[in-house]
Amino acid sequence: MGAGCFLFSRTPPFAAASPTAADSRIEVLLGEPLGTISPNIYGHFAENLSGVIYDGIWVGENSKVPNLNGIRKELVEEMRKIKAPVLRYPGGCFADSYDWRDGIGPADKRPRRTNFWAQEESASSPANHHYDPNQFGTNEFIRFCKLIGSQPYLAANVRSLPAEAFYQWVEYCNSPAGSTTLADTRASAGYADPFGVRFWGVGNESWGCGGNFTAQEYAVEFRRYTAWVPRYGQELSFIASGPSDEGWDWTRGFLEEIVRKGPRELHSIYGLALHYYAWNLSRGRTKDWNEGKGDALKFDLLDWYELMRQGDVMESLINGHWQVMGEFDKDHSVKLVVDEWGPWYRPGSEATPGDLLEQTPTLRDAVFSGMTLDTFNRHPEKVAMANCAQLINCLNSLYLAHEDKFCVTPVGHVFAMYAAHQGGQALPTIFSAPSVNYDRDGKPASFWGLKGSASLRDKELVLTVVNPHVSEARETEVGIRGGSLKSGTATTLTHSDIHAHNSFADRDLVSPKTRALDFKGRTLIYSFPPASVSKLALTLG
Ligand code: AHR
Repeated sequence: MGAGCFLFSRTPPFAAASPTAADSRIEVLLGEPLGTISPNIYGHFAENLSGVIYDGIWVGENSKVPNLNGIRKELVEEMRKIKAPVLRYPGGCFADSYDWRDGIGPADKRPRRTNFWAQEESASSPANHHYDPNQFGTNEFIRFCKLIGSQPYLAANVRSLPAEAFYQWVEYCNSPAGSTTLADTRASAGYADPFGVRFWGVGNESWGCGGNFTAQEYAVEFRRYTAWVPRYGQELSFIASGPSDEGWDWTRGFLEEIVRKGPRELHSIYGLALHYYAWNLSRGRTKDWNEGKGDALKFDLLDWYELMRQGDVMESLINGHWQVMGEFDKDHSVKLVVDEWGPWYRPGSEATPGDLLEQTPTLRDAVFSGMTLDTFNRHPEKVAMANCAQLINCLNSLYLAHEDKFCVTPVGHVFAMYAAHQGGQALPTIFSAPSVNYDRDGKPASFWGLKGSASLRDKELVLTVVNPHVSEARETEVGIRGGSLKSGTATTLTHSDIHAHNSFADRDLVSPKTRALDFKGRTLIYSFPPASVSKLALTLG
């Protein structure tokens, strides 16, 4: 591959239509919107796990690292740029071991507790990764959300706390100033006004770390935990612990048990949480969780395409679970909330050695992430929220940080590019491009050549496109059915090396480049570079 965004074009990257050598075509259908893209599809997830909270988000008020009352300032500044709509906390598996009452009140009186992940941590990792000092709790989380303009999404403990602790957490967060003892406790910490938390997860992965329930057992718990929760005039949206991957039986078993008490019970569920990690790069050799994983940085072309294939599974999971949900919820009042997604590699690429589940995202993960966000955009009626796992120092991180070092990963750049879709009307878009053909362990394999999504707000059209081919640009004619183009810009994220990634030493190696388009109402021809994520921001005439 060449070094730059436009190097691969046989014609200039964009040009007025003339007889061209375009091998691909994208057609956006203006007249048939699919629905509004929920901004919350662009959500995030921060678990109290290794370096995510302590070191990633929370550096402490007395730190030499620039901070806003203990919260890493550079992170806040970066997150403001991406219009982060919602942030899930404190887990993940951690959530079902967490007592929110440990994390409120005077910081010097808060207890230290064994972190859910302590046993997985290496002996050399910092003490606060093993033993939660509870310096970052509900108040600090809400303050962080306010700083970055996000709605909070709190995940409650169903495995090891009673339902009473759940509704009291709601009371602590949402009861009006002066109304309850917990509101007074909140006020004495400096937060007289209620936090107004709308999104509440009722457990996490309740089929596993969240209690090892059967789907039916969990449904009974869900009904009990949500049977009486005080509102205080605040709409509450409960998110049920849902399936992982192709866990159709969980979706079916849960909803079957929920409606056993009558179809009205569905109204207590805002969303069903789906988790999907792309981890098995073994090309069918094993299903072993450790053996199947690949390396974040050392990979070949086959590994690249294998990750794309794994990522592409997301669409069939959305369609498949939606279909099963429809068996019980004919009106589809319950939406999908994909509150954990991303690639998961074996240990070894940590920017901070010793950080558990930390990996270094490369250009490959940026392409994967663009593809996944496009998939969500194409299903606005089904996906109400999604949360990339995780925000910082963990799995598909948007940011890496350690002490005073910080960088935005290629995944972070994709979120910045795609923010323009938030709240837009999703438009059907037809992609025709030669497929990627390659040899997969002696057998011919193919993968789609171009895919993406489009959305419209007033006269502003946003078209995002992924070219997964590692070495071929796609010369593409972009047509708008039902409208014409006036002006626009193109932003592309790519690099000559598919392994390229940002680091503390080289923070901007992979960063998007924006150019103005000048096509004066005629058909747009754009060359999508190999291994790239692109955004065309177009103004209609
Ligand atoms: O994101 C890491 C872990 O993956 C979460 O804690 C858990 O929910 C999932 O299995």
